[in-house]
Amino acid sequence: MPARPFSDTLVQRLVEARRVAVLTGAGISAESGIPTFRDTDGLWQRFRPEELANVDAFLQNPVLVQGWYHHRQKVALEKAPNPGHYALAKLESLVPHFTLITQNVDNLHQRAGSTGVVELHGNIMRSYCIDCGRFAAEDAVADPAPDAIVRCAACNGLLRPDVVWFGEMLPAEALEAATGAAAEADVFLSIGTSAVVYPAAGLPQVAQQAGAYVAEINIAPSAIAPLMHEVVQGKSGEVLPILIDALLKRKEK
Ligand code: OAD
Repeated sequence: MPARPFSDTLVQRLVEARRVAVLTGAGISAESGIPTFRDTDGLWQRFRPEELANVDAFLQNPVLVQGWYHHRQKVALEKAPNPGHYALAKLESLVPHFTLITQNVDNLHQRAGSTGVVELHGNIMRSYCIDCGRFAAEDAVADPAPDAIVRCAACNGLLRPDVVWFGEMLPAEALEAATGAAAEADVFLSIGTSAVVYPAAGLPQVAQQAGAYVAEINIAPSAIAPLMHEVVQGKSGEVLPILIDALLKRKEK
């Protein structure tokens, strides 16, 4: 990777920006040791999404689906945010209006100190009852007995993770916040996402059409690289700290 894998224009645009929006995907957590979905060692290579990440699968085999999410929850808790997450938490303090939109459910941005994170696909740390809608206390799902179905303490309904499954709508409020932030952004960064899952993958285009400078940071060009003003190739945990450094130096001048 070159010492500065991004352009001077990107640094300047960030310095001048009043509004910055960032979309992240599984790639930003890869350096924390959390598998992505579509890379060669990705989750969808080892599991069939239709078996696990949809409501019918859950109703047919709640033990299997709850167990899988419980496993992923444990993995996420064992891992720590990486320099990419921390760099974005820092960026929040450097621009007047900053919106971090994530497709990730691992809670690592929040643990790195980012605030007001727009969670497009939910958060694996939360569960709610499919009958009464109540959210469960975290320890309700902390360590279920093997083969036991985890149920709501209030009404005995099934508890499901607060994540978006295939065939489900995104949370309306989050999607609205994300689309608004993209439409108003002066700079929009798309980081560590293959950009094949919509509507999230449509946000960079919303930003670009509204006049933002759009840039991607990824180890390989994504599906929407052609619409970017700039494609930065590299690991987000390496590129982002250098970008923040360059931004701070430019601001000092
Ligand atoms: P993917 O697994 O589809 O894509 C991960 C992206 O991260 C790829 O483009 C990689 O090239 C890139 N990448 C890997 N390591 C990286 C690194 N160190 N630095 C920068 N980039 C890196 O994951 P997503 O795009 O997040 O949805 O997938 C989108 C959605 O598909 C997920 O939120 C999930 C899944 O179905 C739901 O579960 C609703």
